[in-house]
Amino acid sequence: MTDPKDKKVFVKTYGCQMNVYDSDRMADALATKGYKPTEQMEEADLVILNTCHIREKAAEKVYSELGRIRKLRDAKRDGGKGDMKIGVAGCVAQAEGEEIMRRAPVVDMVFGPQSYHRLPDLLDRADNGDRVVETDFPVEDKFANLPKAKKEVTRKRGVSSFLTVQEGCDKFCTFCVVPYTRGAEASRPVAQIVAEAERLAEAGVREVTLLGQNVNGYHGEGPDGKAWGLGRLLFRLAEINGLDRLRYTTSHPRDMDEELLVAHRDLDSLMPYLHLPVQAGSNKILKAMNRQHTYDDYVRLIDVIRDVRPDIALSGDFIVGFPGETEEDFEDTMRIVREVTYASAYSFKYSPRPGTPAADMKEQVEATIASERLYRLQELLNQQQRDFNASKVGTTMSLLLERKGRDEGQLVGKSPWLQAVHVQASEELIGEIVTVHIDNIGTNSLFGTMIEDRTTIGTPLHNQAEGLSI
Ligand code: 5AD
Ligand code: SF4
Repeated sequence: MTDPKDKKVFVKTYGCQMNVYDSDRMADALATKGYKPTEQMEEADLVILNTCHIREKAAEKVYSELGRIRKLRDAKRDGGKGDMKIGVAGCVAQAEGEEIMRRAPVVDMVFGPQSYHRLPDLLDRADNGDRVVETDFPVEDKFANLPKAKKEVTRKRGVSSFLTVQEGCDKFCTFCVVPYTRGAEASRPVAQIVAEAERLAEAGVREVTLLGQNVNGYHGEGPDGKAWGLGRLLFRLAEINGLDRLRYTTSHPRDMDEELLVAHRDLDSLMPYLHLPVQAGSNKILKAMNRQHTYDDYVRLIDVIRDVRPDIALSGDFIVGFPGETEEDFEDTMRIVREVTYASAYSFKYSPRPGTPAADMKEQVEATIASERLYRLQELLNQQQRDFNASKVGTTMSLLLERKGRDEGQLVGKSPWLQAVHVQASEELIGEIVTVHIDNIGTNSLFGTMIEDRTTIGTPLHNQAEGLSI
């Protein structure tokens, strides 16, 4: 038997950034039981797959991975190297619960995203031989009950960190499983978020990305007892010493309120980058998707955002082949992309998700047609991304140095616009924000030369009192 103080956990993360955040929280909860993370699945005493259910392929990958893990577990047992418990977490766990237990007898625990703080208890039950399924939406506050990582652990995780501020979604886009797997919108209180952000800053984190399935719908309780919006929260977080860069993702066009636009205008630490999915260009399709905005609403909103923050880079999500999408509808998607222009984007073929309204819609689009449209859309989006990157050649920008690059003496950092930038710089500068001149572009990144090894961010805030009219 493995010494209980020396147990190892391997967590494999699929899907979105919130799963990345959650995987770290699971590791923190397990640390209280003596589990240390490992990169080698075959030596793990506990393997957790933190799954994603957003598209079909993501769920299928989980089942094939479970087949592979079963072999590793059997080899470990047969080699007399102890047992391996297997858990499935995340949105597939939430959506399929018992079905996973039936389809994959190798699994010991299935638990949804609202149960991570209970992980040590669930593990005790699994150790006693139970097969545990935990997919309720409990009323207790998961975040308040999750243990905090030690400073060294946080430091090791890097200088840029995620911080979940909101979970769930009430928008019910007809293609999307999130409202079912992550539940109704819930926002963490401001004080809890500020405390976590301060801990991150103390551990050396310089950049925080606030996460939420519908993050700009944030409405957490403020210290004054009133609901604060995301803009107000950002102003508060900007006061924390050491947090020089703030970001947030993912947003819905309906929830871009005035306070958030003011934050984009006035907060130097709020990076000029906005992920604002439009999904499609045709009003008929937007309506069938229940997006609650039109082509024009979106374009007008982008105009206002560019007005307040002219250097903002836009990113988006697109779905092609939604039920009923004609060639003409698809052309509207191409048109909105040309009109808005994106610095980066994610685009997908529509994938029917069981239990969502769109899965039952007639007129499902043929796969070959959807593939061909996706190809055309991605050509356009890739071209726009290359153009955006090329537009930075010859300019000077701030860069947060994050990690070592592949070449000797090279570091990789992140630009304000979320581009990877390679520079020659010594390792002790990791965690610093430096100024670089951009010399040229590669396929997916930029190459620059450092012209100064410290920058002063945090120029005084502009007048915040002035309002904006949308
Ligand atoms: N099919 C294809 N893409 C989807 N997305 C969400 N649900 C589906 C689906 N059923 C995409 C959306 C969303 C992103 C996270 O994933 O574009 O913004
Ligand atoms: Fe899903 Fe986003 Fe729509 Fe919510 S707003 S239902 S998370 S696509």
